[in-house]
Amino acid sequence: MQNHKNIVLCGFMGCGKSTVGRVLASKISYQFLDMDQYIEQQQGLSVSLIFKEQGEQAFRHMETQAACDFSAPQGVVIATGGGTLLNPKNAELLRRGGIIVLLDIPARIAFFRTKNDKDRPLLQRPDRKSFLFSLYQKRMPLYRRTADITVDADATPQIVAEQILQAVQPFMQEKT
Ligand code: S3P
Repeated sequence: MQNHKNIVLCGFMGCGKSTVGRVLASKISYQFLDMDQYIEQQQGLSVSLIFKEQGEQAFRHMETQAACDFSAPQGVVIATGGGTLLNPKNAELLRRGGIIVLLDIPARIAFFRTKNDKDRPLLQRPDRKSFLFSLYQKRMPLYRRTADITVDADATPQIVAEQILQAVQPFMQEKT
């Protein structure tokens, strides 16, 4: 769907970007693209191994390359990684082709949803809980400043997807 705006989902780890993204994409017959998965396919390595073998900086460069690849409006739903939109360059690239939607969840829900996670490299540490809460405090203001729309994501994926659809309507009708 060339020239159709993308819907770019952002937010803290555990906010449901991938799960909600899939539901939303199927509701409106858009393709779904997951940036972490895209990077994994390009590199032939998991995000976890990229962090381990090449370091976080290398991963952040790959995110910017992916943001560049997804900067054109093509009518897709994009799930970003939790750190993607914190780089203003990535935000600028992704905004070129789409509307940035923040999935807003409280810190305690982010913790609850990720507390047994073994794949997110940033969370594999003994002080996971205090680290997550302080990262959340640092990141939320940046997400809020970057997003065009914020939706409450402490609900089922179906409900969140529905809320996004309603909230993006006025933006989708603008000329791209
Ligand atoms: C990251 C979040 C992860 C993934 C990587 C870094 C972050 O994505 O991109 O582990 O910096 O918050 P999710 O938000 O999908 O977990």
